[in-house]
Amino acid sequence: MPSKTSVIPRFRSLSMADRRRVLAAVAAIDEAAITDAVSQGGLDLETADRMIENAVGTLALPFGIALNVQVNGTDYLVPMAIEEPSVVAAASHAAKRVRAAGGFQATMDESLMAAQIEIHDVPSADAALTRVRGARAELLALANRAVPGLVERGGGARDITVRDLGEGFLVAHVLVDCCDAMGANLLNTVAEALGDRVAELSGGELGLRILSNFCDRRVARVTARIPVADFGCSHTSGFEAARGVVNASRFAELDPYRAVTHNKGIMNGVDAVVLATGNDWRAVEAAAHAYAARSGRYAPLATWRLIDGGRVLEGRLEIPLSLGIVGGALRAHRGARLALQLLGAKSSADLAMVTAAAGLATNLSALRALATEGIQRGHMALHHRASAPSISR
Ligand code: MEV
Repeated sequence: MPSKTSVIPRFRSLSMADRRRVLAAVAAIDEAAITDAVSQGGLDLETADRMIENAVGTLALPFGIALNVQVNGTDYLVPMAIEEPSVVAAASHAAKRVRAAGGFQATMDESLMAAQIEIHDVPSADAALTRVRGARAELLALANRAVPGLVERGGGARDITVRDLGEGFLVAHVLVDCCDAMGANLLNTVAEALGDRVAELSGGELGLRILSNFCDRRVARVTARIPVADFGCSHTSGFEAARGVVNASRFAELDPYRAVTHNKGIMNGVDAVVLATGNDWRAVEAAAHAYAARSGRYAPLATWRLIDGGRVLEGRLEIPLSLGIVGGALRAHRGARLALQLLGAKSSADLAMVTAAAGLATNLSALRALATEGIQRGHMALHHRASAPSISR
């Protein structure tokens, strides 16, 4: 269950032990279980040895909780694994502002992913397209027979599309609803189950059978609205700060060099949640940047505007997210299991919407800082704090 509140006053000023105690109470999780799950990076050596080849140890990252996050009226304690100072604080601060104005509003597509079957040396593309399209029902049934467990959970193959790529290449996409799984294993199983039959129908040579990580049918959309009157601070008016955020957004929309850094600030929040919850951050990164470039020009994933006659600052983020709350590394990693428990996401859609909200939150904090006091004062001060022990040695 999602925790009752994501607001924990003075959490930051507590000792780590006290933070765990308070967290246990708020999230209704045994304190010893929290300590046990996140000590030593949440991963014991035996498990690590089973997870990858040639393991010689584990590599830990700080594990923190972003506070104040409310999405669609529900509070979430948001676990983050990240080495960069200020990201957790940035997410919490922005979430606090958004929360005061009603919280993040988000939607998520179905968990649709594409399994790709590539065929080459196709003698007649037109004939192949007609035959594969004509076998739609047979191919869907074959796909569903390959993943009976998924079908039982309400997922399965939904559609087949096929495209002529030219030069004798053809690709079939099997669109699969993978429910609460990230989907890679399920999609690869489907691609392999259908490969021979698609090659036979096409009259060509069977090539690759693998999911596409470009999950443009599995997109999270999140919105934040903040009254401009509440957006100021001692040295900047709300209007100036909001206009600065909008100008920063326009800059990213006009210049791909800036859009990359703008999106990096979004991925600070997104990746930290993806990593903490044991999900595949390489897949998320690959899809996010392909989505950012889908118009043919690399663009910001989030944009900001003044609406309602200039009285409200509105931010919108769209990001493809193939995240799972079951399967994969999640089963093995105690830290990731705890992260999911703290977050309390009931579905991969919940997880995706919260992750997207974290991305919009870190984006807002970065743009606000850049547009007002500059990034060095707040952000780099925390960097100096983090590196102080090594400097003094
Ligand atoms: C630093 O990790 C992220 C920022 O560069 C993002 C941005 O410039 O928007 C501050």
